[in-house]
Amino acid sequence: MTPEIGKIAKQAFADTFLFYLQAHYYHWNVEGRNFSQDHKLLGKIYEEVFASIDTFAEQLRSMSTYAPGVFDRLKELSTIQQSDEIPAAEKMFQNLIDSNEKVLKSLGAAFDMLEANHMHGFGNFIAERIDAHSKHAWMLRSTLKK
Ligand SMILES: [Fe+2]
Repeated sequence: MTPEIGKIAKQAFADTFLFYLQAHYYHWNVEGRNFSQDHKLLGKIYEEVFASIDTFAEQLRSMSTYAPGVFDRLKELSTIQQSDEIPAAEKMFQNLIDSNEKVLKSLGAAFDMLEANHMHGFGNFIAERIDAHSKHAWMLRSTLKK
């Protein structure tokens, strides 16, 4: 495994982790007329993504790289910017759409790199994550549609 593969896979992991955290953070703090629905949808999303984190970390371990788990390191690896403001519900969904696009981009780069290096097991896991995040993109976009 080259350091380049490790770097791209870890970036996808860190983006996934920060996206999970953002969805969970918004699940706790969302407000407004659609509170119940929004709270539930955000719950569904963070739970789905969180359930993938352990397998993702173990996939990193199986390619002999360490799994990042310290917050500063995750922040450094990730392309997602965090903010501790509590935006209005609509802005939360827009922020999650933007973050999810970053996750999809880094998952796509990881998939291409893994496939090019014949690492099909990990590649298959990443392909499933791309499917899951594409579904999250659909739900988030549909929620914002007027
Ligand atoms: Fe909850």
